[in-house]
Amino acid sequence: MNNIETVLKSAQNQLIQAGLVDSPQLDAELLLSNILQVNRTYLFTWPEKQLNPSELEQFQADLNKRLDGQPIAHIIGYREFWGLELKVTKDTLIPRPDTETLIECVLNLESLNQTSKNCSILDLGTGSGAIALALKSEKPHCSITAVDQSQPALDVAIQNAQRNQLNVEFLHSDWFSAVDNQIYDCIVSNPPYIEKNDPHLQQGDVRFEPLSALASGSDGLDDIRLIINQAWSHLQPQGWLIIEHGYNQAEAIQQLFEQSNYTKLQMHKDLGGNPRISLGQKP
Ligand SMILES: C[S@@+](CC[C@H](N)C(=O)[O-])C[C@H]1O[C@@H](n2cnc3c(N)ncnc32)[C@H](O)[C@@H]1O
Repeated sequence: MNNIETVLKSAQNQLIQAGLVDSPQLDAELLLSNILQVNRTYLFTWPEKQLNPSELEQFQADLNKRLDGQPIAHIIGYREFWGLELKVTKDTLIPRPDTETLIECVLNLESLNQTSKNCSILDLGTGSGAIALALKSEKPHCSITAVDQSQPALDVAIQNAQRNQLNVEFLHSDWFSAVDNQIYDCIVSNPPYIEKNDPHLQQGDVRFEPLSALASGSDGLDDIRLIINQAWSHLQPQGWLIIEHGYNQAEAIQQLFEQSNYTKLQMHKDLGGNPRISLGQKP
């Protein structure tokens, strides 16, 4: 009997036995809803629906990829972020729920909400476009520029902008190199911030993501140092720099902000309660 319920149960058991994934039930549901082109609610509504041989074959092929350790987002080709469906490939970071904390921080900035003029935001290291597109969806009147040094990642971000009908300017740039003398009300970044010898880089989904999106020198702070330093000359007075970072980097980043004379420093925790987002204002 190959109905939705039994197929899901069997897939879940295979994932549990492999001991590789944290969320076997969710993974099985995402794979099957992708094959059937339905949402997950459909799976619970129609548990007795039979799968045809072709659907079964495709499902087992995708399940085998997951059993080999490939990330779900790579197998189904997309990830949801801030309610947007974003294409992801081996060239992009898979957007993380923790990064939604950064979006909330930007949306809570009083200066951006009070300004009578249209605000301008720069997203450094946009990857799939996640941050830039989420902000554009919330602040359609802001002009948003997003840069990345990876052209293949930018190509994906451009497709995501088109797919979600959001108008963002994308630039191929090594951090600020292609930004000229532009100045912004707000600069945001989720840069690479993992120590280059961190053993976590060899584990789980991260193994399938580009190292250039993840690692940044021996203490993980090479790119953040540069961004904090160079953002100053691209910020308006009262402009904010908002950075996502590792759970153990908040103190070091606070010092970097202070050394560069930013004020009104704040730190916000992610969904797991870890320090994750730091921000400072150019006076
Ligand atoms: C941690 S990923 C973040 C991707 C996306 N913003 C997100 O939150 O899902 C870091 C991104 O920075 C980009 N990057 C790394 N070095 C860069 C550089 N020198 N200039 C511009 N972008 C860079 C990587 O290609 C990658 O897309």
